[in-house]
Amino acid sequence: MDSTASSETLRPAGPCAVVIFGAAGDLTRRKLLPALYNLKAHGLLPGELAVVGVARKPKSHDEFRMEQSEDIAEFATMPVDGKLWTGLRDALYYQSGEFADPETYVSLSALLGQVSRKHGTGGSVLFYLATPPDFFGEIVRRLGEAGLTREEAGAWRRIVVEKPFGRDLDSARALNREIGRVLAEHQIYRIDHYLGKETVQNILVFRFANGLFEPIWNRRYVDHVQILVAETVGVEERGDYYETAGVLRDVIQNHMFQLLALIAMEPPSSFEPDAVRDEKVKVLESIRPMAPEQVLTHAVRGQYGEGTLGGKRVPAYQREPKVSPTSSTETYAALRLNVENWRWAGVPFYLRSGKRLARRNTEITIQFRRPPLLLFERLCEAEIEANRLVLHVQPEEGIELQMKAKRPGPTVHLKTVRLDFSYKDFGETGAATGYERLLYDVMTGDSTLFHRADMVEAAWRIAMPILDVWKSLPTHEFPNYAAGSWGPASAHALLAPEGHKWWVSE
Ligand code: BG6
Repeated sequence: MDSTASSETLRPAGPCAVVIFGAAGDLTRRKLLPALYNLKAHGLLPGELAVVGVARKPKSHDEFRMEQSEDIAEFATMPVDGKLWTGLRDALYYQSGEFADPETYVSLSALLGQVSRKHGTGGSVLFYLATPPDFFGEIVRRLGEAGLTREEAGAWRRIVVEKPFGRDLDSARALNREIGRVLAEHQIYRIDHYLGKETVQNILVFRFANGLFEPIWNRRYVDHVQILVAETVGVEERGDYYETAGVLRDVIQNHMFQLLALIAMEPPSSFEPDAVRDEKVKVLESIRPMAPEQVLTHAVRGQYGEGTLGGKRVPAYQREPKVSPTSSTETYAALRLNVENWRWAGVPFYLRSGKRLARRNTEITIQFRRPPLLLFERLCEAEIEANRLVLHVQPEEGIELQMKAKRPGPTVHLKTVRLDFSYKDFGETGAATGYERLLYDVMTGDSTLFHRADMVEAAWRIAMPILDVWKSLPTHEFPNYAAGSWGPASAHALLAPEGHKWWVSE
């Protein structure tokens, strides 16, 4: 979060309590608490705040505070100011209990009453479901039964639901129905941490606050779009979860479809949450789900074998902890999607993502059409490369425009030059966890950056035929790429019919 922008343009959120279900988990210690601390440091937390952690293990408030103090020392993204942290620590509370036990909610309700009196939090409560997905529906139901989701006398009750939101279209629909029986849509915040990234939020600003690009942002000028989410990490300790997911569910169906929607959407009529989300959902609905036979030519899957990364040998996916030695889970996928609307018809969107790839890199490349070549063809040995606009999401953060220029000298020689903007040019922006903006938005009731029920379902509709075909035709070719490479060779075939090539910035 940019500290200048935040202090100049944002005000602290109003009084509220934050309840974190699954407070013993990694997300709380690595992201949520550090993010709350950063918000406090930026003056964006209300003075009247309490944070209640809920988890199974019995523990006193003081024990919880002590643990969180150790964790913040380890996971804070900015230097911790003792006085500020003490202020936050003293507002931490703990409630033990099983998520399925009605007693947990009776005690929680009593505790919320106490903290409201002590900290003046009023009746507004943010419930954060940082639990395994099996509990999402159950917790919401129990909160409803305990009367904890009722919004009265100007107080709000909002629920943040972590990913994965369902594991296919049917389960996502069922979950939407289940939580929809208790909550109104405006109370539900389906979080996607990709949308908390500065560079992702900047896509809309870049597109709609600059007059330059919008006129050429369409099929007439854009040749194709590539979206890359490359990770060097393997599945780490999450093998049991990943075996039920694979990259299509884990990264593509949510994070990458959101990136695609931001790139392809029409200008919204305003920056009201539903105006923005209406446009995004239209993009997802314009992607016609693949017919089964298309899956064979428009989608490629891969799984990493052993290889070398950063000079070290790393094991194959099938050798990772909690992974089946004969696993057919995909750790890499590449898709070719068509957005069938007036702006984008005929412009392929190529998406690829994988674990254990050569380099960590998330970037979006808009490749423009080539100029007619006749003028310069005598002077160029190779084909003139097209102009590319690259939105660097991470770890580089910036925007790059690639153009042709004449190399100085008596003859005409063309060279690709880069017009570059780096986020570093903004100066010190303060390290962030990526959750600050999202938590702040929930507290202030701004759901722009959260998935709406129809968006989740539209995204699953695109993923389903691919998942179905992959399930019914298990591959015998895994592993099919070496850790440390750029993925399976078969991914090239996806672009070949159009004469395109995978491209990655240097
Ligand atoms: C998560 C996935 O949603 O996103 C992980 O579950 C993945 O498997 C992560 O590694 C990537 O996020 P980031 O912010 O590191 O790019």
